[in-house]
Amino acid sequence: MRMCDIIKKKRNGFELTDDEIKYAISGYMGGSIPDYQMSAFLLAVYYQGMSTRETVTLTRCIENSGDHVNLKDVKGYKADKHSTGGVGDKTTFVVAPLAAACGIKVAKISGRGLGHTGGTVDKLESIPGYQTSLSIDRFQEIVNKVGVSVIGQSQELAPADKKIYALRDVTATVDSLPLIASSIMGKKLAAADDGIVLEVTVGNGSFNKKIDDGITLARVMVDIGNAAGKKTVAVLTDMNQPLGYTIGNSIEVIEAINVLKTGKGNERLVDLSIELTANMINLAGMGTLEECREIARKNLENGSAYKKFYEMVKEQGGDVRYLEDTSLFDLGETKEFVANKSGYISYVNTEGYGLASLYLGAGRNKIEDKIDFSAGIKIVKSLGEYVEKGDTIAVMHTSDKSKFEQAEKKLAESTTISKDKAELRKVVLGRIE
Ligand code: URA
Repeated sequence: MRMCDIIKKKRNGFELTDDEIKYAISGYMGGSIPDYQMSAFLLAVYYQGMSTRETVTLTRCIENSGDHVNLKDVKGYKADKHSTGGVGDKTTFVVAPLAAACGIKVAKISGRGLGHTGGTVDKLESIPGYQTSLSIDRFQEIVNKVGVSVIGQSQELAPADKKIYALRDVTATVDSLPLIASSIMGKKLAAADDGIVLEVTVGNGSFNKKIDDGITLARVMVDIGNAAGKKTVAVLTDMNQPLGYTIGNSIEVIEAINVLKTGKGNERLVDLSIELTANMINLAGMGTLEECREIARKNLENGSAYKKFYEMVKEQGGDVRYLEDTSLFDLGETKEFVANKSGYISYVNTEGYGLASLYLGAGRNKIEDKIDFSAGIKIVKSLGEYVEKGDTIAVMHTSDKSKFEQAEKKLAESTTISKDKAELRKVVLGRIE
């Protein structure tokens, strides 16, 4: 077999055999297939798509590219939630400790930033000292002791995804249904969860721009999960505006800490966190969805979730003084982005907001780029709100002032102000079992 022939076959729109897909992935992992050929292959898949059979085979190749995490020493029901990616999506910081506070075990293996979307692991590393790389034994120990641990992907778990994910991030091959489905489900099948809740984002800040694409992606992933014996559900969520009031790393962690401490905050962020947690504990059989929403709300409001988050950060070496006093986080230099006329914010290009945050230094342009944890955006006026000319719409943060100009231009391009009110969608759009 030759990789060049496989690329050509896919480029010309033909279905690949299982052996060809296995050859491509194992060759890439073994080093006989270089990055440039894998990039061409990913682009061919991006344009031509994959059949369900091809997607399942690719998922299995990713799953079997490393070890299966065996969390045999973790007692209790294990559930995870995984997002298809969004802008300002910080739900993991609320949902993971909240689900643990409700009584289930959350052994969460998260990813880094991808395309214009941020990554949980990058965000967590903005807490000084927080270790995202732990041995499986230590990971299990923390999950047993605290109920929750969030780490990054190790070399052992689905290493093919780790390598391909980093390549997709810098080759414009992220927003492809089979690549997203196999990336997420490859990791989930290699992990040891009993239940999986998928947060499938839809809208102009998601990799799924159209609702139908989100539904198809959700169905494919739910089917793969259930066929592999893991109870899997998907919650479709709106990404036609950033989630919450912040985009970035430290700044998103601060917003989540405030929600955990007070049980309050941006309504969409709180509602979505409750919904995702309710679905996780519902899979564990803790009641009807309505009952589970109540349990989740109670544990958010009574501070139990914050306690879990605090304990997890402490166990993982993070400096908990930053949780107690979030003003310790360095948020760099600031510049305001102001309205150039009066009216309603009638449209926000959410991907543009994600890119503006990336331009400020919150994400990567090349694999080896370092993240600026202080970089990001605080949203002052959201989609649907009225602004007067000169009002602050957002505050940009960065440690490198030269980055303001490009980011501000992107924010301006991505914000429409008009006399018409925006059509606002609810944050939870649906659920697929
Ligand atoms: N999250 C993942 O883990 N993979 C993707 O491809 C997109 C979001």
